[in-house]
Amino acid sequence: MGSCFMKRLLLRCIECGAEYSGDVVIYRCPRCDDLLDVVVDVDEVFRRESLRGRVESIWRYAELLPDFGDGVVSLGEGFTRLVKCERLAKIVGVRELFLKLEGLNPTGSFKDRGMSVGVSMALSVGARRVMCASTGNTSASLAAYSARAGLECVVLIPEGRVALGKLFQARIHGAKVYQVRGNFDEALSIAFRSASEMGAYLLNSINPWRIEGQKTVSFEIWEQLGRTDINVVVPVGNSGNISAIWKGFKELQQYGVIDDFPRLIGVQASGAAPIVEMLMNNYSTIRFWDSPETVATAIRIGKPVNWKKGIRAIRESDGTAVSVTDDEILKSLRLLATVEGVACEPAGASTIAGLKKLVDEGKIGRDEIAVCILTGNALKDPSEHLVSWNIPMTLDSVSAKSI
Ligand SMILES: Cc1ncc(COP(=O)(O)O)c(C=O)c1O
Ligand SMILES: [Zn+2]
Repeated sequence: MGSCFMKRLLLRCIECGAEYSGDVVIYRCPRCDDLLDVVVDVDEVFRRESLRGRVESIWRYAELLPDFGDGVVSLGEGFTRLVKCERLAKIVGVRELFLKLEGLNPTGSFKDRGMSVGVSMALSVGARRVMCASTGNTSASLAAYSARAGLECVVLIPEGRVALGKLFQARIHGAKVYQVRGNFDEALSIAFRSASEMGAYLLNSINPWRIEGQKTVSFEIWEQLGRTDINVVVPVGNSGNISAIWKGFKELQQYGVIDDFPRLIGVQASGAAPIVEMLMNNYSTIRFWDSPETVATAIRIGKPVNWKKGIRAIRESDGTAVSVTDDEILKSLRLLATVEGVACEPAGASTIAGLKKLVDEGKIGRDEIAVCILTGNALKDPSEHLVSWNIPMTLDSVSAKSI
């Protein structure tokens, strides 16, 4: 980096285009109440050669991230493995298939990328307390990063519907956990209403700084794979991650690092698929779902707050969205685990089911390359549903002699 390296980060409304300084605490456009993007304006960016020897975390891409000086809150998030799967590629029917193992992040999900930036931002604006609503992973991640930063953490979860491993994580890192009688969407609307009353900095994915951290997965895919003329398959709940991934690729293109854009493929569970439904209606309108239901609790979301950004990502990348049943999700999880030795939580496994469906329908060619984002670690969600599907709890007893 040169000594007169210039970087400017500001917030811009995705609807009315109004611009705001990057250091004001707003989550929506004060003028029209729509979503905000962070706009990154730099005059120098990394190239493949300049990355050699840098820290193996999201912060290796510092040029396109905010500067926090010594105030960066990091647990070494990002730089997760990209694993090539030849056997699974044959079964799914694509030329090459790669899995991005986001379960290898410090708290076991991609959320850590966003929380590193988001909690660093909370510190830099002087917050003492942070807050989120969560289907589980967001709270696990926020609890860990706020503990590291010395901030108080409050999380709201839907009553009885959070995987035990995730709840355990939030508790062990010392978060105050409250159950909301209702689903995630209701928990989020309470978090919106109460964050400012409680003097808390809100770290759901509506907070655009979260997206800044999460976009780094695209930089890694480019760096690790060496090409971007691919399909990137992503499980979709609130649409924060798919929009972050698109933002990452767009910035690489904007700064001349890549020429080819990937197609982004969003996958939803058929019991929680408002984005897929909207796409089938030719993007005319979104209908929120009141009672989303799926075994993939991480994406059990009926009112995706970032739907406009998610739809934009799919549309601009010439991608698509597809829904898969719980049965297809669980079969894909078993396939991943038994054919490739890779397990993940159900939301991540939905990408394999979605990819296979699109290949079978001829919407993705057999000569194409796909990267599936396995968003969370398998150990987070050994819930009853999953155990009963494979009945490993009723094991036969053997002795050394009888085996
Ligand atoms: C494991 C996992 N996969 C996918 C998602 C969906 O991400 P988003 O809500 O950004 O669409 C989540 C969100 O909680 C998640 O925890
Ligand atoms: Zn606006």
